[in-house]
Amino acid sequence: MKRTIFVASLLALGVTAAIAQSNVVEQRQQLMKEMGAQTRPIGAMLRGQEPFDLAKVQAGLKVFAENSQKAQSLWPESSKDAPKTDALPAIWQNKAKFESIMTELHQDAQTAMSAIKDEASFKAQMPQVLQNCGACHNDFRKKSS
Ligand code: HEC
Repeated sequence: MKRTIFVASLLALGVTAAIAQSNVVEQRQQLMKEMGAQTRPIGAMLRGQEPFDLAKVQAGLKVFAENSQKAQSLWPESSKDAPKTDALPAIWQNKAKFESIMTELHQDAQTAMSAIKDEASFKAQMPQVLQNCGACHNDFRKKSS
């Protein structure tokens, strides 16, 4: 009897851990998706394919600043082998570098929020913010096939 209860609670614990694991993966992917959605109009403005729009740029920077901060804590080692993640094991081999790029994105986005006032300052400042996305994805995210 005791044994059955013990096994049942172990199973329950396992299920809870699996749910927690898939939640952090979903949460961080959601934060990333929101940032990805902001890079579309911003990229088009950088290439001159869309007219410069300061309000859209500032809204995008706010998402980068907030989401990079929220995402900082969503990489527990237990999520390394989660089935649906594109996160590479390199994150947990070099956590300091990974976290520093995330912090860099947060800081660069905040700096750009006060520095960008017009199209010229947008073109000067924005690439610095966006290069953090690629810098991290290169080392720490599975290449999409
Ligand atoms: C410090 C590292 C890091 C930074 C900085 C970063 N990303 Fe990511 N990104 C990742 C990782 C790792 C994944 C894979 C997450 C997963 O699947 O668990 C990812 C996934 C994504 C995805 C796919 C989400 C999905 O599953 O649908 C998009 C889109 C994305 N990132 C956009 C961005 C943009 C845009 C920026 C910059 C504004 C950015 N990322 C900055 C590490 C980073």
